[in-house]
Amino acid sequence: MSRASEKERILVVDDTSSTLEVIARNLVARGFSVFTADCVPKALDVLESAAIDLVITDYKMPGPSGLDLVRHIRQNLADTEVMMITGFASVEGAVEAVKSGAEEYLSKPFTDEELLSAVERVLEKLHLRRAAHSRSLSTPRAPQGMIGESTAMTRVFSTVAKAARTTATTLIYGESGTGKELVARAVHYGGPRAAAPFVAVNCGGIPENLLESELFGYVKGAFTGAVETRAGFFQTADGGTIFLDEISETSMGMQVKLLRVLQEKEVCMVGSTRSTRVDVRILAATNKDLPTQVSRGHFREDLYYRLNVINIELPPLRDRDQDALMLVHHFVQKYATEAGRPAPRFTAEALQALTGYHWPGNVRELENVVHRIVVMSDSDEIDVRDLPALMRCAPARERGFNRSLSEVEAEYIRHVLSAVSGNKTRAADILGIDRKTLREKLRRMGDADA
Ligand SMILES: Nc1ncnc2c1ncn2[C@@H]1O[C@H](COP(=O)(O)OP(=O)(O)OP(=O)(O)O)[C@@H](O)[C@H]1O
Ligand SMILES: [Mg+2]
Repeated sequence: MSRASEKERILVVDDTSSTLEVIARNLVARGFSVFTADCVPKALDVLESAAIDLVITDYKMPGPSGLDLVRHIRQNLADTEVMMITGFASVEGAVEAVKSGAEEYLSKPFTDEELLSAVERVLEKLHLRRAAHSRSLSTPRAPQGMIGESTAMTRVFSTVAKAARTTATTLIYGESGTGKELVARAVHYGGPRAAAPFVAVNCGGIPENLLESELFGYVKGAFTGAVETRAGFFQTADGGTIFLDEISETSMGMQVKLLRVLQEKEVCMVGSTRSTRVDVRILAATNKDLPTQVSRGHFREDLYYRLNVINIELPPLRDRDQDALMLVHHFVQKYATEAGRPAPRFTAEALQALTGYHWPGNVRELENVVHRIVVMSDSDEIDVRDLPALMRCAPARERGFNRSLSEVEAEYIRHVLSAVSGNKTRAADILGIDRKTLREKLRRMGDADA
């Protein structure tokens, strides 16, 4: 695409005059209108006098830093995009840059092509945003295929939209079944790489000794059985996205190799001594708390920081207000259609039982429950009795008269104990039994510290 007619205005800010010159020359050759500044105060002068579409700024400069400039722009200039250039050592800088509102960051050293394609990407987003802005001023919408209107999920959707606009490495955290893979897909398919491959790899499901050759490929003769050279997931994902699921399950040795890929953007096939460049965006997911894994020495801190440039944390389903109801409705429709039957109706009590349940398996569990009900039930109305036993207890209990004496007793004992902060002598007093009897009852109740 020729840029000459559009003449977007780009301001380049860098204290190294040679870098400034090289970048400026490249951009001018592409038909952009280029401004330069060798420090933040001069950049602010330019910004005051010209309508700039994109600012490309160095991170470390004497005086105010590139980050200060990013913040200034985000707070004051809604119609100007920012891209940050960071040195190798300043991962935290990249993290902060993205958090502060930079659309992209480029790590040094970068090629002319990398610079130009990043510029194209950011400007394309700017055009899309301007076009969308003229149409509406809407709140973050759920990405394709994701259901939810809770405050917690609305926040997730807005981060997903932001992550989709960049190529920054993204770490997705959430309990099992919260939708981590769905989010990873939304980030990929909502962004400029949508037409390129999305390759999902379950790091926990591939034996340690196979993972390396699966990820990076191998050359013929690398090991017994390597009868031909084969590409790995990284080569397959070139130009697109790789999704490293269950990243916490990788060995320390594998983590070193992944760190190298992130830093050098190169992979080395098993059995080869040569590295090849790959252009792959990395998304990773985990249901383990990585900072804890880091503090226990099970996960490399440097890899954690490299992965965690953008962080998406999925709330458990029990923290999503009324989302469970929307999801029930969604999956009922989906599986009824699939089964070729009309969608059954849920009674108010059944819905109440479903929303009161704590869903340890989150959306996946809810989906399975609804699927089973739609398949198994012949009735067009689903009541509490059609739900799995675990979910039936909650509302049934409220109606009373169906608990055994020992259940009531156990509940009362726990209640008294908690009221006296666990003091067994006082609890036994209140209950009118001796300590030994109380201990015996607690043991039968299965309470650990009886
Ligand atoms: N917000 C949502 N809206 C609609 N469907 C969802 C949502 N979240 C999850 N799902 C569905 O729930 C199922 C589980 O989601 P997904 O596989 O993405 O979860 P996960 O966090 O990767 O789970 P696990 O930890 O078990 O790997 C999928 O079928 C997915 O389509
Ligand atoms: Mg998953």
